Amino acid sequence: MDYRKLGTTGLDVSPLCLGCMTFGVPDRGNHAWTLDEEASRPILRKAVEAGINFFDTANVYSDGTSEEIVGRALKEFARRDELVIATKVHGRMRPSPNGGGLSRKAIMTEIDASLRRLGTDYVDLYQIHRFDFEVPIEETLEALHDVVKAGKARYIGASSMAAWQFATMLHVADAEGWTRFATMQNYLNLLYREEEREMLPLCAAEGVGVIPWSPLARGRLTRDWDEATERSRTDEFGKTLYEHTATADRRVVEAVAAVASERDVPRAQVALAWVLAKPEVSAPIVGASKPAHLDDALAALELGLSEGEIARLEEAYVPHAVVGHSTQGFL
Ligand SMILES: NC(=O)c1ccc[n+]([C@@H]2O[C@H](COP(=O)([O-])OP(=O)(O)OC[C@H]3O[C@@H](n4cnc5c(N)ncnc54)[C@H](OP(=O)(O)O)[C@@H]3O)[C@@H](O)[C@H]2O)c1
Repeated sequence: MDYRKLGTTGLDVSPLCLGCMTFGVPDRGNHAWTLDEEASRPILRKAVEAGINFFDTANVYSDGTSEEIVGRALKEFARRDELVIATKVHGRMRPSPNGGGLSRKAIMTEIDASLRRLGTDYVDLYQIHRFDFEVPIEETLEALHDVVKAGKARYIGASSMAAWQFATMLHVADAEGWTRFATMQNYLNLLYREEEREMLPLCAAEGVGVIPWSPLARGRLTRDWDEATERSRTDEFGKTLYEHTATADRRVVEAVAAVASERDVPRAQVALAWVLAKPEVSAPIVGASKPAHLDDALAALELGLSEGEIARLEEAYVPHAVVGHSTQGFL
């Protein structure tokens, strides 16, 4: 595995991050399609054995059970000092007051709860899952800085939000001398490229590493447009992401199929290779619901698309409404 630096930090990460939203007790939280612990462990083990050292979860995934499953498995399969474990805060964990969001109180409660579930003293990357319109930016940033200074997180990151919000947060952190965000975890794939307008250039200019989520459009780029899986049938948040531009999206999916067929590789490799080719991207966060999915993810690292292939894959894209930000609910 050729490790690389995460953005402009000194942290060594594999060029693939394993998304751990797939792992969790199915009847806990919002994702009925998740794999239970027994089905999750072979995927986590295979990732470690392949040299993937970067794992992304969140407090909110399957009501904390993703963190529990990942924590137990990684403790068994890998050395903690070689791993880069990322988790997130903002999602609602309890219906009661202070049960979600980015207040100082919520952040301090949730980092300790995540560390308990993961069974570790620190996370490597602590990310805000969304922008919180109801909490002053200064309150959030100082709390995150204190989490780092307390040794509970090595780096901090942010996830889907408007570029102006992220730019403002970076500016305030710099002005106050607080820890600045090292990463942006945003939604980017061949079916959603709105981040190319403002967020990717901002991240390049600010030295922020980009770690895109759902790089295969939650599986839609890996199969025919009308083909469904257990996950796509029950993925309620996923359904909200692909409703509006179906005609153009279908043509993009067909272009992926055509390039994959010419190269004689599975479509997943082509779709992932497109994300990997973006210079701003440090590591896409891939989802794998079967161990074999990891083989394609690893093969994508070697695929290398030509300029002509990239142009064909991009040709049918039309502008999309912004999705995935906090005004539109959670993942
Ligand atoms: N920050 C955020 O708001 C946010 C939001 C979403 C996700 N995330 C992060 O991003 C990670 C990845 O998200 P994602 O699971 O949506 O990513 P994805 O890589 O776009 O989709 C994964 C799905 O694609 C299909 N797939 C993967 N490899 C395949 C292959 N080789 N051949 C055929 N199908 C394949 C599978 O679908 P089937 O299971 O249907 O077969 C799999 O569940 C999450 O685990 C999480 O860590 C973050």
